[in-house]
Amino acid sequence: MNKDVIIALDFPTKDETLAFLDRFQGRKPFVKIGMELFYAEGPAIIREIKARGHKIFLDLKLHDIPNTVKRAMSVLSHLDVDMVNVHAAGASAMMKGALEGLTRADGTRPLLIAVTQLTSTDAETLKNELLIDTPMEETVMRYAKNAADSGLDGVVCSPLEARKVKDACGEKFFTVTPGIRFADGDVGDQKRVMTPERAGQSGSDFIVVGRPITQAADPVAAYERCCKEFLGQ
Ligand code: C5P
Repeated sequence: MNKDVIIALDFPTKDETLAFLDRFQGRKPFVKIGMELFYAEGPAIIREIKARGHKIFLDLKLHDIPNTVKRAMSVLSHLDVDMVNVHAAGASAMMKGALEGLTRADGTRPLLIAVTQLTSTDAETLKNELLIDTPMEETVMRYAKNAADSGLDGVVCSPLEARKVKDACGEKFFTVTPGIRFADGDVGDQKRVMTPERAGQSGSDFIVVGRPITQAADPVAAYERCCKEFLGQ
């Protein structure tokens, strides 16, 4: 799959989501659907957005025993999503189970990426609550390597880590990076941000952009600006 801009559809309802997508008229951006919208609207929202011609990253971050994740992934692959994810903390057996479950009878499957450490987990929490003494960056790189060795296609990471992940796991290993802000935009609650242009130069394959597009006065113009900066088109 080619480099692309993914819009995070962080809306609570189907009506708001579809009204937002209607503004794009002929364009069909790649979109991310997370837990809030999926749990509110169920699989029907996926079918509806797919039928409109969008690619979908279903961001549900599965983490359970391998057999449960395998069976759940099989259900998601039949929803015809394009990208899904798991927590790398579920370890290799779970990631391999996820891959197996995702693979359809004809051998095709959605891309599978892993979350390494959540960006909300800081060094202190890692050490004092999760009892992991290994430094954060080493943990992130090891989890990325475990994902690559299990056959996954990539990881979600900060654009600031994308280059290092590729150096450790190979150029073909996808990096999907949130934390994107325009140079003249609001940072909001994101701490480690990068512009679309810099992300494009720093090894990001997919940027995930929420509020800079969804909250813009003109979301279509903001999306086009993102594509222009990130993809140079
Ligand atoms: O509005 P904003 O551009 O910050 O949205 C970024 C999206 O990426 C949100 O859906 C957020 O949940 C998601 N995300 C993130 N940081 C991570 C993982 C996912 O911001 N580490």
